[in-house]
Amino acid sequence: MAGNDRNMPPELNPEAALRWLIDMGADEAIADAPIDRFAAPPPAQQPTPQLAEASAPAPHAVSQTAPSRPAVAASPDLVAPAQGAADASSAASAAETLDALRDAVAAFEGCALKFTATNTVFSDGHADSAVMFVGEAPGVEEDRQGKPFVGASGKLLDQMLAPIGLARDEHGEKGAYISNILFWRPPGNRSPTTAEIAACMPFIRRHIELAAPKVLVYLGGTAAKTMLDRAEGIMRLRGKWYEHYSPGLDAPIPAIATFHPAYLLRQPGQKRESWCDLLNLRSKLDEIINKN
Ligand code: URA
Repeated sequence: MAGNDRNMPPELNPEAALRWLIDMGADEAIADAPIDRFAAPPPAQQPTPQLAEASAPAPHAVSQTAPSRPAVAASPDLVAPAQGAADASSAASAAETLDALRDAVAAFEGCALKFTATNTVFSDGHADSAVMFVGEAPGVEEDRQGKPFVGASGKLLDQMLAPIGLARDEHGEKGAYISNILFWRPPGNRSPTTAEIAACMPFIRRHIELAAPKVLVYLGGTAAKTMLDRAEGIMRLRGKWYEHYSPGLDAPIPAIATFHPAYLLRQPGQKRESWCDLLNLRSKLDEIINKN
């Protein structure tokens, strides 16, 4: 950048403008061509005589002209939320194996996030693991690699699991199987919308049925509130045992919520509480293992 550009007011400095956009979370191009939202809208088309008759407002009706919307490259705006959840439900229940479920998720087009993501992020670790961790949604690194929790928070998660004898490359009692409630990265890491979560819920519920872990761990507020169907935040939900019910399970699965590792990276002072939750998880696992 030329030196004199730095002296420009920020609104005229392209580098500063770009940095501001990235800081605001607008770090993805979602259409092939930029949209000039300051351009004057095209003049309204004159309706054809038949249409004019059919759409003529009643004598005292207020005319409501919908603002013209620019076309978007893919079809995210065309995904009706209720339809997305209904399609997910039938695709998820038709999947009899985890491989079939992975294929069904990859083929699913009912969640708008799919159209801005690079990869579908299904799971990591071995599905025969005793513990299944459920996070929120892939971040930038997960989106790039197509695997959950491989960025900075994933590294912390691995470090948290090791002292309680769990690892994602292990099987069975020592294994940690990892997924998210959403399979695609929300652009700019924004929070997922209710409609996006609803569209993916049947898949994560089926995922749990097919993996059938001995214990579930919900990582962070969004995963905890969604999976527990509760309104409280993670401060209230964490550290307690719940039961996850589902028609396809032989028995309910004990579930605990704890802080998301990304939160712990920002608030390391909360690691103490997190460690208590991990010890609680270890005791529950030992109890279940010793009973069998
Ligand atoms: N945060 C999540 O919730 N999930 C991931 O996979 C990565 C970061």
